[in-house]
Amino acid sequence: MSYEFLTFDVADRIATITVNRPDKLNALNDATIAELGVAIDEAVRRDDVAGVLLTGAGRAFVAGADISELESQSPLDGQQRARAGQAVFRRFETSPKPTIAVINGFALGGGCELAMSCHVRIASEKAKLGQPEVKLGIVPGYGGTQRLPRLVGRGAALKLLLTGDMIDAAEAHRLGLVDQVVAPDALTETARALMTSMIANAPLALAGCIEAVNRGQDTDLVQGCTIESDFFGLLSATSDMREGMRAFLEKRPANFTGR
Ligand code: COA
Repeated sequence: MSYEFLTFDVADRIATITVNRPDKLNALNDATIAELGVAIDEAVRRDDVAGVLLTGAGRAFVAGADISELESQSPLDGQQRARAGQAVFRRFETSPKPTIAVINGFALGGGCELAMSCHVRIASEKAKLGQPEVKLGIVPGYGGTQRLPRLVGRGAALKLLLTGDMIDAAEAHRLGLVDQVVAPDALTETARALMTSMIANAPLALAGCIEAVNRGQDTDLVQGCTIESDFFGLLSATSDMREGMRAFLEKRPANFTGR
């Protein structure tokens, strides 16, 4: 695939999707959002990809939706734009292959929402995060009012949503909005090492964890545990389960095949 607003690179079974509009701080115009959907589908489809890093070119991760496009939207345009973006972001969240947001700089508005749609977030010490939509007279449209309270709790989420303030990476880590903070020059290497350790595990088990967490969060504890036990049983049908256990007993590394 070729992309106008992204780059897509694969090395060592890791796809790196880089939003690439640095002169606009990687603001998400509609075309970039559509390309993000194509890119995550490509990563999920390709047999040579086991996990996805998502980052931004230059000094921003993503500084939000492209305000020049939002400015003239009608109510119906706005609703459609939000739904289209939400559907794309949901594909990062439901990807059966792990997705890590590698937050190199500003992650504001749609950028913070995109990062929250990934499974894990690693931030540079220089990153700044926030949901500044109220300063523009709107609410977040790409899941921010829903994913932020799930990640950081209602009070902290409403504090961020209602002030529109930017917070630094250390504060985002304290709140649980990001999972790890590292020096800027260690960001890529740390994210790749984390992804490498994830994709060394059985692919169907990774997909099972992701789906159980996603579906479990949308239901109650009892139903969630039922979903988990179904996966626990189902994975017993895989050769990777037999390989993983045999490798442990034989004191050797497992050689997983995704079957
Ligand atoms: N939409 C459209 N363009 C954006 C943008 C966005 N969300 N964020 C940044 N840009 C553009 C700027 O307009 C500017 O373009 P120009 O050089 O053609 O004028 C360029 O990116 C650089 O941004 P600038 O504001 O000059 O950089 P800065 O370092 O002074 O400020 C920010 C950085 C992130 C604080 C500031 O750009 C900002 O507040 N952006 C909007 C954040 C936001 O509200 N996001 C939510 C949108 S719903």
